[in-house]
Amino acid sequence: MSQSNSTALPDYQRQSPEVAARFDKLKQRPVKLEVRSLQKQFGSAKGPVQALKDISFKAYRREMMGVIGASGCGKSTLIRILAGLETPSSGEVLLEGQPVTGPGPDRGMVFQSYTLFPWLTVKKNVMFGLEMTGNSMSTAEREARQWIDLVGLSKFENSYPHELSGGMKQRVAIARALANRPKILLMDEPFGALDAQTRASMQAYLLEIWRHIDLTVLFITHDLDEAVYLADRILVLKPNPGEVLEMIEVPVPRPRSQSQFVEPEFLATKNRLEHLIHPKSHTEKIDLPIVRMTEVGDDVE
Ligand SMILES: Nc1ncnc2c1ncn2[C@@H]1O[C@H](COP(=O)(O)OP(=O)(O)O)[C@@H](O)[C@H]1O
Ligand SMILES: [Mg+2]
Repeated sequence: MSQSNSTALPDYQRQSPEVAARFDKLKQRPVKLEVRSLQKQFGSAKGPVQALKDISFKAYRREMMGVIGASGCGKSTLIRILAGLETPSSGEVLLEGQPVTGPGPDRGMVFQSYTLFPWLTVKKNVMFGLEMTGNSMSTAEREARQWIDLVGLSKFENSYPHELSGGMKQRVAIARALANRPKILLMDEPFGALDAQTRASMQAYLLEIWRHIDLTVLFITHDLDEAVYLADRILVLKPNPGEVLEMIEVPVPRPRSQSQFVEPEFLATKNRLEHLIHPKSHTEKIDLPIVRMTEVGDDVE
């Protein structure tokens, strides 16, 4: 059933009737996020850098959208603009039809690095944003508990971040981001600092949470498997300047599981991503000035 020979892979654009029906349903939902002709230039010592050029796309309600591209192609710049932490040079971002003009509790952010307050307990970390937006202490506590339960950390509500593993810290970060009931969850390489096994369980957690609540997610990753495993659609960017190469509709059916990693449609999508992101990687020769430190003839390959 599974196959790894890329020459025998199906067309990644071919969708089973079930997958096609899911995309029809998705596109009938209201547009949650609309990005229109976004441009961003930065000034640098070597002159202006065009980080983003003419980026336009829409994300629908309850969509799980991945963003992928080589390092430096503007992924973080894009998500920072969506979060209102950076202003675009031109173009606009609409969230439920309203222009984004600055940061706000209607967008939840999760970064790669742990951003919990080290001096606050898990519960207080999750309560923080709730109290900031004017909830009473008791409401904030009740709400916080609910989200801490959802990420499976109720036994740790009184622990401090340094007492938690990396994966647990990111679960708290997700609970904190969701506690304000954001219109969209923005994640910048959220599992990038985790070991492979923890990362896999975090991916499964995220899918499980997303299935149970009304949540639109935009996540950045540089991991092809992660993009295909999680996303409905994948926005592929290219660097210098950061432009949209393609918006891929992932043909892998839901519910997703790790066992699908070897299915033909999964591999076909991954193959397409590989081709878009590293078009020359197989022909490039690594040119390092390596000094031979073994005997001639004592070769390993
Ligand atoms: N504050 C900044 N000032 C100047 N250049 C920046 C700034 N932020 C990002 N850049 C440049 O913009 C480009 C995109 O960066 P970034 O969005 O961090 O890419 P990615 O997250 O895809 O790796 C890079 O060339 C980077 O050097
Ligand atoms: Mg980045």
